[in-house]
Amino acid sequence: MVALHVGIISFNSCFPCLPGSRLLRLRFTKRKSSSVAAMSEDPIREWILSEGKATQITKISSIGGGCINLASRYDTDAGSFFVKTNRSIGPSMFEGEALGLGAMYETRTIRVPKPFKVGPLPAGGSYIIMEFIEFGAFRGNQSVLGRKLAEMHKAGKSEKGFGFDVDNTIGSTPQINTWTSDWIEFYGEHRLGYQLKLALDQYGDTSICQKGQRLVKNMAPLFENIVIEPCLLHGDLWSGNISSDKNGEPVILDPACYYGHSEAEFGMSWCAGFGGSFYNAYFEVMPKQLGFEKRRDLYMLYHYLNHYNLFGSGYRSSAMSIIDDYLRLLNV
Ligand SMILES: *[C@@H]1O[C@H](CO)[C@@H](O)[C@H](O)[C@H]1NC(C)=O
Ligand SMILES: *[C@@H]1O[C@H](CO)[C@@H](O)[C@H](O)[C@H]1NC(C)=O
Ligand SMILES: *[C@@H]1O[C@H](CO)[C@@H](O)[C@H](O)[C@H]1NC(C)=O
Repeated sequence: MVALHVGIISFNSCFPCLPGSRLLRLRFTKRKSSSVAAMSEDPIREWILSEGKATQITKISSIGGGCINLASRYDTDAGSFFVKTNRSIGPSMFEGEALGLGAMYETRTIRVPKPFKVGPLPAGGSYIIMEFIEFGAFRGNQSVLGRKLAEMHKAGKSEKGFGFDVDNTIGSTPQINTWTSDWIEFYGEHRLGYQLKLALDQYGDTSICQKGQRLVKNMAPLFENIVIEPCLLHGDLWSGNISSDKNGEPVILDPACYYGHSEAEFGMSWCAGFGGSFYNAYFEVMPKQLGFEKRRDLYMLYHYLNHYNLFGSGYRSSAMSIIDDYLRLLNV
């Protein structure tokens, strides 16, 4: 079980939702220790004091830094727990997160917080309880991160093809994970196609949608001569979701997990600061596949499109120029 403390949560920010944060230190605001609610009205407390094996909650502190949900740390005589709540959503979002964390946890490779419990709140909304990890002050070793990520990709296999048992979200955009046996079909329809449709629906952007669809229909040659196996992916791997524990072990957080082509994990690498030692260590475990470089931008395209849909036109030109480059390359 985990102890005290604070850590650095993001190292640089590509997300408008983390205003101006380069080093965003988690802050704890002390609140009065345990209060009021009877057990039945407070399922978080109830779980911690039963299955969580605590007899006493000594302190509840709120943790700043999250963009979307309220986060708290519960200190107890059985260690600390990390709890996120959201008053306005049903449990499905946190269920998706718990399934993702659980799948990664089961690989016993890279460290992730162990999910314990998800449920609805009596007054509406929902919660997730997970392991509290004490973060270290420094970013973990890049080569260890690369190796452990590759070990997770290697260990996390799927017998159902590409997808996941539940849909989840990427940022706040829905991410559709319908099981599909063919990767090119999955990536074309549920990743690029979904975002292109969204751009059409919310901005009326027929131009990016049509060109993007042309790319989707013609992208198969980019995958020639490789075998694509479904691997467990974190799905939203950027520096804000990478940390390290007190021992310097890398920790990854806030996943948008699914089983996909391992290379798709690098779709957020423009926000992740992975260096040479990261990739070298990664490829020692998961050898680089033929044509890796020519698919790189294709995997970033999904996330650029998502940023366009979430944050507006600032990201449109990046997405569009990737599409244009591929249409030229593929001569379609
Ligand atoms: C709850 O989640 C919704 C949807 O993701 C988000 O828009 C909202 O800000 C969240 N609210 C709180 C209080 O956490
Ligand atoms: C990172 O880890 C690798 C392999 O364990 C080690 O060789 C290297 O010295 C470490 N780098 C740093 C900066 O600690
Ligand atoms: C992880 O990334 C998402 C954006 O995709 C962000 O909303 C979330 O706050 C990040 N997690 C942390 C711990 O910063």
